[in-house]
Amino acid sequence: MGELDGKVAVVTGAGRGLGRSHALELARQGARVVVNDLGVAADGSGRDESAGQNVVDEIKSAGGEAVAHFGDVADWDQSKSMITKAVETYGDFNILVSNAGFCRDRMIFSMEEDQFDSVLRVHLKGHFCGIRHASEYFRNKGKAEGEVYGRILSTASEAAFFCDPGQPNYSAAKAGIIATTNAAAIALQKYGVTANTFMPRARTDMTMVGQTAQFFEKPEDGFDTFHPDNVSPLVSWLASPGASNVSGNVFIVWGTQITVMEPPTHGLDLDNGEKWDIESVGAKLGKFFEGKEAVKDSFIPPSIF
Ligand SMILES: NC(=O)c1ccc[n+]([C@@H]2O[C@H](COP(=O)([O-])OP(=O)(O)OC[C@H]3O[C@@H](n4cnc5c(N)ncnc54)[C@H](O)[C@@H]3O)[C@@H](O)[C@H]2O)c1
Repeated sequence: MGELDGKVAVVTGAGRGLGRSHALELARQGARVVVNDLGVAADGSGRDESAGQNVVDEIKSAGGEAVAHFGDVADWDQSKSMITKAVETYGDFNILVSNAGFCRDRMIFSMEEDQFDSVLRVHLKGHFCGIRHASEYFRNKGKAEGEVYGRILSTASEAAFFCDPGQPNYSAAKAGIIATTNAAAIALQKYGVTANTFMPRARTDMTMVGQTAQFFEKPEDGFDTFHPDNVSPLVSWLASPGASNVSGNVFIVWGTQITVMEPPTHGLDLDNGEKWDIESVGAKLGKFFEGKEAVKDSFIPPSIF
């Protein structure tokens, strides 16, 4: 008996890397899985359906149930068809793990419009489309039947907080994913549907590039800290009945670590008692920032990725 027996999951970008690990883990826990993957390279180029099909075959040969979906997560209709495929194949839909994406890194002063648009599209719009269609299904079912089992899981990145100067597009998309997911958490609360965001670290095609690759390398012996499988148990737990009261949260997860992020809070609060003018702002805020070093003493901690 698994924690997710009878549940139906859609995992996007599940042909390799983290998505593959999530799909296999959810299937191990008893979920029937729609394995979505477009089969593109880590920079979004090309197309190869064999990756997604291989994961379906792997799940089936381990005794699980899975079906492939080769659509683009950021295409409105193709995204909707992931949910439809789950319902038509397995009679229901319960868990959305949005994970698909690619990177096109450049410093802000060199980034081209298409590098910004394409990365925002695949991550932020890709999450939005899936969450939008999943939410509609959950809401309709909740209204019709009074009860619905629904879980939305989104993949952000620590880049959303600890902005990488080489990833202004990716960091923006990942920050937006938190906002979109939390909007769903609030909107669907009354139906008992939860929505959470996690920020993984793992050795995948996405991270085995350039200097970043060294950070994620597999150790010669001992625990493989950055194996993608280390991330998936959090995903399956958040998808499980045991996490029914966990929603609107952000987690960092890698290796043996899970961190629950605190929501942003107000820092200095100033009330001028009357309309501000440039002198009063300067007098009060200028005093607060006196002696601080620009950027270093801001809320941007040193970059990890
Ligand atoms: N690996 C890390 O350390 C790390 C860190 C932070 C966040 N993430 C996030 O985790 C997620 C998975 O990344 P990964 O490291 O496993 O990368 P990966 O490159 O190994 O896998 C990404 C998968 O997404 C698929 N994909 C890309 N565009 C798609 C589209 N439009 N429609 C459907 N499928 C599409 C690709 O074919 C690929 O199989 C991404 O959202 C990434 O931003 C990864």
